[in-house]
Amino acid sequence: MSIPQSFIQELLARVDVVEVVGRHVQLKKSGANYMGLCPFHGEKSPSFSVSPSKQFFHCFGCGKNGNAIGFLMEHAGMGFVEAVQDLAQGAGLSVPDERASPAERAHAAEQRRQQATLADVLEQAARAWQQRLREAPQAIDYLKGRGVSGQIAKRYGLGYAPEGWHGLASVFAEYDSPLLVEAGLVLVNEEDGRRYDRFRHRVMFPIRNVRGECIAFGGRVLGDDKPKYLNSPETPVFHKGQELYGLYEARTAMRAMGYALVTEGYMDVVALAQRGFANAVATLGTACTAEHVHKLFRFTDAVVFSFDGDAAGRRAARKALAAALPYASDTRSVKFLFLPPEHDPDSFIRAHGHDGFERAVQDALPLSRFLVDAAREDCDLATAEGRSHMLSNARDLWAALPDGVLKRQMLGELAQQGQLPVPDLAALWAQAAAAQAARQPGGEGRVEGRPRRSTSRWNPPAQPPRPQPARRIDHATRLLLSNMRFLEELTHEEQALLRGQPAPHGPLIVWLESRLHEHGPQPWAVLREALAGHECQALAERLMTGSHAQTEGDEAELRWELRDLVNRMLAEAIQHEQNALIALAAHEPEALARYRMLQERRLALQKPRRGAA
Ligand code: GTP
Ligand code: MN
Repeated sequence: MSIPQSFIQELLARVDVVEVVGRHVQLKKSGANYMGLCPFHGEKSPSFSVSPSKQFFHCFGCGKNGNAIGFLMEHAGMGFVEAVQDLAQGAGLSVPDERASPAERAHAAEQRRQQATLADVLEQAARAWQQRLREAPQAIDYLKGRGVSGQIAKRYGLGYAPEGWHGLASVFAEYDSPLLVEAGLVLVNEEDGRRYDRFRHRVMFPIRNVRGECIAFGGRVLGDDKPKYLNSPETPVFHKGQELYGLYEARTAMRAMGYALVTEGYMDVVALAQRGFANAVATLGTACTAEHVHKLFRFTDAVVFSFDGDAAGRRAARKALAAALPYASDTRSVKFLFLPPEHDPDSFIRAHGHDGFERAVQDALPLSRFLVDAAREDCDLATAEGRSHMLSNARDLWAALPDGVLKRQMLGELAQQGQLPVPDLAALWAQAAAAQAARQPGGEGRVEGRPRRSTSRWNPPAQPPRPQPARRIDHATRLLLSNMRFLEELTHEEQALLRGQPAPHGPLIVWLESRLHEHGPQPWAVLREALAGHECQALAERLMTGSHAQTEGDEAELRWELRDLVNRMLAEAIQHEQNALIALAAHEPEALARYRMLQERRLALQKPRRGAA
């Protein structure tokens, strides 16, 4: 989008930088200015000053300075447009867009209004549950038993959703409001239409976006009931694959400590913060995605991924490696911390204390080493076959690295391990890359974890997920339920497409992904048990019984079937984005370029892949 300069001026005149900064940094009046601890570098005495007359902030320690927009971009990791929109919303202004049509503008405004409303509803629930926690000795005991102090509970806004089916009826005057359903707080019984609270008798972890707005919850049972954790569903404000638990709370510590710690669990984040590692975040029961990594690198140049020492942890680490590779530029550091098999970060730091964990972080495996380890797995380097196998495993990983010194060094290292001269390996892989590019017109690689093309300079109006023809998504879901490992073979983009399908398909795919992440591939008989009582149970049962349920057959055949379905769905989604781009293309060369790129991709997708398709 393109925002007129005059509007930026007006906006900056309306907002107060002291108020904007004050939402993130504790400020104290000192003469004509306000002072506080700089959020951009670690310091013990304040050298960060905010001037109300100049509407500027400046740090005498690290030199960072700027206006309210710059502050949000730097501190909250927002893009320019996002920061402007955030400020405008607070000031009651609506951002004019020189390019958008009135209909697009109205749609965008409506969408923002809806998001703000949902965030309000969720915040209200968070506050109520926080209050309930104070009155719930059982929940307090639970948290105390896990070593969580009142101070940390407060910092993370932990709460308690009481027992009973309609606890939220005492929080919201209108329990029947569709907003509560949309926010994921209330469920509707399909048979009798009755409503009930999603979260009951659970310790509640509010999930915040980088702006600090509550956008979802995780809830943990106090005992050993199943499911252990319940998460909010995907909603207009919450996309699991993009959000990290604790990021809002961790931003300042991440800067001060110089790195971010990525864990797998809510409790890990809280327990680490409790013992001096306030720089921890967690993925939300999903594998780490390229979007997660991208987001983290807006706040820090160093990331340490920490994984539970079990088989699921290893699998998760491989995914994080794939997600991180494209971002591992020479100025960044990515490391992998593997805990002993019996531990997760929470139990480890409780057993070994702050210093023990600190040592483990220092000993974490650099990405370069983990890449080699991952490629060598199950390869006997004493034989030529083993070495070739290792190199063939390594090729896609290496190719995903951005160009730079690290990539060159890795080539040398892999060549050495494979006992091949570097120029030979380089030539071999260049050949393979060229052949691959020729097979994929449009040039969009299928390397897992590759970041999406940036759209930050202009944002096409966000589109609601396109409902897919019923039988297509039904069948794709059915194939995945009966062959769960196919899910791993899809690209992030394809996974996101499936996840984004309207309920109940989208939520079922999300569930399946988290299942895969936690347990690896499982047969339908096991999934069926696990789905008992789940909101997606009915859909899964319907898909897997009856005359269409025939999903047995040649595995390669089924794989082709899924690929074909996903390609068609992707082509449709692309067509949809193209339609939106047409409006912009007249004035915007980048939109036109993207339109053309999408056109090529779509045609490539629609090409029949085998004989008669
Ligand atoms: P505790 O220490 O037992 O509280 O949990 P944890 O944080 O160690 O969780 P665990 O390693 O079992 O799982 C890691 C993350 O996976 C959790 O924080 C959740 O986000 C997610 N998760 C775990 N169990 C479930 C579950 O039953 N359902 C869902 N949806 N997510 C879960
Ligand atoms: Mn744990």
